[in-house]
Amino acid sequence: MSESAPTAFITGASSGIGKAICLRLAADGYHLALAARRVELLEDLAANIRSKGGQAEVYPVDVADTVAVTESVRAADEALGGLDLVIANAGIGRQRWAGKTSFSDVESTLQVNIMGAAATLLAVLPKMVERGRGHVVGVSSLAGYRGLPKSAAYSGSKAFLRIFLEGLRIDLRGTGVAVTDVQPGFVRTPMTDDNKNPMPFLVEPEVAADQIARGIARRAAVITFPWQLATLVRSAQALPNGLWDRAVGKAGG
Ligand SMILES: NC(=O)c1ccc[n+]([C@@H]2O[C@H](COP(=O)([O-])OP(=O)(O)OC[C@H]3O[C@@H](n4cnc5c(N)ncnc54)[C@H](OP(=O)(O)O)[C@@H]3O)[C@@H](O)[C@H]2O)c1
Repeated sequence: MSESAPTAFITGASSGIGKAICLRLAADGYHLALAARRVELLEDLAANIRSKGGQAEVYPVDVADTVAVTESVRAADEALGGLDLVIANAGIGRQRWAGKTSFSDVESTLQVNIMGAAATLLAVLPKMVERGRGHVVGVSSLAGYRGLPKSAAYSGSKAFLRIFLEGLRIDLRGTGVAVTDVQPGFVRTPMTDDNKNPMPFLVEPEVAADQIARGIARRAAVITFPWQLATLVRSAQALPNGLWDRAVGKAGG
């Protein structure tokens, strides 16, 4: 890390897990670049961080616009004197039964969760490699291990991100650049507010942020929580399809 305050760019900073990570990293001494579309929420968060003696700048951006998010990360890299950490956290997760899913629902999910995340992660990666230091973090999900009801596009997008991050990690071994895949279970945020399904082992955003900040500090390859759900989900990979299908969904939507 730099000798001055470590620096981080984070997408999805306006709400939920992203906002909680920002508050935690600011308390840990990071100088933050806060990115999302809702500028007023970013300004409020920046003011909150500054009122506690922290440092934060606002970078309004729609990550679905991959050119814009690439430019935004690069501008922050320039302005903050070289980013130590880039976190691709922005994501959307609409629930839709397969028989009522339109292509545009799928497209918008993939544009944010895959294209936006990949553009964020890659924007200054060559510079980090050149400097021999840096850390890129993606927020995937425990939902990326197997298909889930009404979540084909969401689970598929998170499966992509999980494997993409693993590939980056393998390639970047020995370069000084770390790669971390964050795989949360259920976290209480606006994304899960409308979820009518059971949410076992639901955690608060501050608990999620604590797990994520500790994992980032030790440059963990993978951060999963809560451990109970992570164990269940990983074991479920071995279940036969028929058993899995019956366990998670009812026939006909
Ligand atoms: N909550 C959970 O249970 C859970 C579990 C596993 C993984 N996750 C993942 O955690 C991440 C954060 O989710 P959350 O639960 O904190 O949800 P959230 O409270 O709804 O926050 C989503 C964040 O993403 C930003 N965002 C969405 N679309 C964007 C776009 N096109 N451009 C820029 N920013 C965009 C939103 O900001 P603006 O609307 O201001 O742009 C917001 O800050 C997501 O990737 C999600 O898939 C969540």
